[in-house]
Order: sequence, then structure tokens, then C-alpha cells
Amino acid sequence: MTLIDGKKIAAVIKQEIAQEVERMLAQGMKRPHLAAVLVGHDGGSETYVAAKVKACEECGFKSTLIRYEDTVSEDELLAAVDRLNSDPDVDGFIVQLPLPRHINAQRVTEAIDYRKDVDGFHPVNVGRLSLGLPCFRSATPQGILTLLEKSGIDTGGKHCVVLGRSNIVGKPVASMLMQKGTPGNCTVTVCHSATRNLKEITRQADIIIAALGSPGFVTADMVKDGAVIIDVGTTRVPADNARGWRLRGDVDFDNVAPKCSHITPVPGGVGPMTIVSLMQNTLLAGKKIIYQ
Ligand code: GUN
Repeated sequence: MTLIDGKKIAAVIKQEIAQEVERMLAQGMKRPHLAAVLVGHDGGSETYVAAKVKACEECGFKSTLIRYEDTVSEDELLAAVDRLNSDPDVDGFIVQLPLPRHINAQRVTEAIDYRKDVDGFHPVNVGRLSLGLPCFRSATPQGILTLLEKSGIDTGGKHCVVLGRSNIVGKPVASMLMQKGTPGNCTVTVCHSATRNLKEITRQADIIIAALGSPGFVTADMVKDGAVIIDVGTTRVPADNARGWRLRGDVDFDNVAPKCSHITPVPGGVGPMTIVSLMQNTLLAGKKIIYQ
């Protein structure tokens, strides 16, 4: 069994990005600039945004964090999006999700200029992804593809079972893996809460991508010997430590790992790759490679 070290793979890619930024600056180009909008004080969102700001420093990017209390109105947030859309110094930006219930997250996402949408959540980027056209690809699924590629896993012709149909992970990762290319060329099955005979399906999988947000959901009896397991789950569960919680994935790691050819840990698997994919998108935005 090989443990896929997302932290190590991410560190190498961040170093390569930093070198590329140095080359850009030497050529007189400007430093790529990522802005992040954070609303409220959700613990998970605070952690993710802090990690994104730190990754910007490591890559040599400029970053700007714009904070609002969770009482901010939708109109105020839409005005902030407009300002970022028209700020020529900002190459790309994200609005961290989830947003408070009184704000329509879809409206905010659609207000972002798709040419600066480094999260890849805007319908133009989602549509272009499904058509196989150049676009900003959403970070977690892109990070999963990079992990597979850097781990030397051949995906061509493999049966990949995706657990979960979210707009952020399940749908886009299925779309990416079914497309022609490397990684890609998979036969993809997407399973969700209404799927029947789930275990029969997962037992046929060469690759399982677990993205349901249900700790320990994937048990050893659901997994074929030699399968590749990618665990996207990051649920906070109570723990006997100073913080009072720890992250738990969607896979029953201790019992599943001995059966696998490759498996990602939680934390340290997909998480660091999500952030590095955002950095790769910001580099593309800074170089105006996808959209002028
Ligand atoms: N919330 C959880 N994941 C993400 C992400 O990749 N981007 C944003 N903006 N919010 C998130």
C-alpha cells in the first residue's frame, strides 16, 4: 500500500510556482495577485482562507484578504465583487463559501467576472469544463487529478466510482475524469444518496473518490483489493486534544488502507492539493493564459 503524500506533492508545486513568479518579475511582469473575501467567522473557512493566504506568500503572490461580518448585506457583498472585478491589480479572487443564509451564494458566484474566477465556480467555467474547453478548473477536483498524475496512477480505461454529487467536487471530478486525456479516459459512475446497491458498485471500482462528508463511510467490505482510494472528506469530529476536535475523512482508513494500492490520508492528502490548484489558477490568471 502506498500512502499518497499530498503535502509533499503540494510543496514541490508551490516551489515551481515561486520560481515561475521570479521569472515573470525578471521579465518586467507584475506579481500575480489573489484576493479572498471572507464573511463571518466560521472555523473551517477561517482555517482555509488563512492557508490560502500563506500559500500565496510561499508562491510569491500578492494577496489581499477582505473581511465582512456575517451581518453584511447581499448588496454590500455584490458591490465588493464589482470592485474586485474592475480592479486591474487583482488577477483573480474567491468568495469563501459557505455564506450566511440571507445571502444568495449563487447570485454572488455569478456576479464574479469569469475571467477572474480562480475557484472555477462560475457557470461559464463549469460549462467550459464540461465541453473540454480551456477554463479555470475548480480546485479540489483539479488537485485530485494532479495527485493521481504525480503518483503515477494510470487512469485510462479504469472504472472510477465517485461518491457524492456536489457542485464543488463530485460533479466536476466526474466530468474531468471522463474526458479524453491523461489523467482521464475513465469510465465514471457517480453515486449519491439515492443510489441502490452501492456496495456492488464500489466493489467494481479501480478508483474510489469519496466526497460525501460522512466520516468513515467507506468500509473495507466496499473496496476491491488493489483499488486506489482518494478521500475528500474533512469532517471535524470530537477528539481528546487541546482543540477538542480532529479532521476525519470519509474512509475508514485503518481497515481500508491494507487492501489498497494507493490511499490518501486525512489530513495531508487532498486538502493541500486544493490550495495548490488555486495557486496554479492564480498563476494562469496573472499570466492571462486562459482569458485575455
Ligand atoms: N468552501 C469549501 N471549499 C471551497 C473552495 O474551494 N472555494 C471557496 N470559495 N469556498 C470553499
